[in-house]
Amino acid sequence: MKFFVDTAEINDIKELAATGLLDGVTTNPSLIAKSGRDFLEVTKEICGIVDGPVSAEVIALDHEGMMREAEILRKIADNVCIKVPLTIDGLKTCKALTGDGTKVNVTLCFSANQALLAAKAGASFISPFIGRHDDNGFDGLELIRDIRLIYDNYNYATEILAASIRHGVHVLECARIGADVMTAPPAVIKGLVKHVLTDKGIEGFMADWAKTGQSL
Ligand code: G3P
Repeated sequence: MKFFVDTAEINDIKELAATGLLDGVTTNPSLIAKSGRDFLEVTKEICGIVDGPVSAEVIALDHEGMMREAEILRKIADNVCIKVPLTIDGLKTCKALTGDGTKVNVTLCFSANQALLAAKAGASFISPFIGRHDDNGFDGLELIRDIRLIYDNYNYATEILAASIRHGVHVLECARIGADVMTAPPAVIKGLVKHVLTDKGIEGFMADWAKTGQSL
């Protein structure tokens, strides 16, 4: 399973990239606003930190506008992945860009039918939002299961990028279902390593090692 981090905070991206466990980055207009940085500048900096895809989202809502913005964004670096919303104009843009060899992430997916359309449009990634789906009384993980089934039925190459991940159980269940990628905030990724028994075990080993009086 690939791990992307869902942030535009450079320090967090650098810290996670240094572990060697980070496969890519996703951003969106809200995360760019939160960073307080210039969109093009921060995206370029992120692309220099990770080798994998860096999703940068278009702002325009019409096809022509999306194509114009995608042209600006894809010039930033080879690993830029253009993020478009799941609308007719977004799908049209997806089809045009992927036909050109550009990676496209179709975002704001809340139904399996929408995911089917994105695959038909040749999307590199589909981003179903699990947490926001749960928040609205739906089952976000069921959505991932349905998309996995449909994509496998037809051997679609579109990768399922589970997004809006809120905690470790989302990550675990996505891995069980077979999501290709998950994108989560830095704190959720860092939290995956934590276990009280690991900490307790280290504490015990350290205490016993001290008793030996040895050093390495
Ligand atoms: O980047 C898309 C998605 O991961 C956003 O998540 O937490 O704002 O619902 P969230």
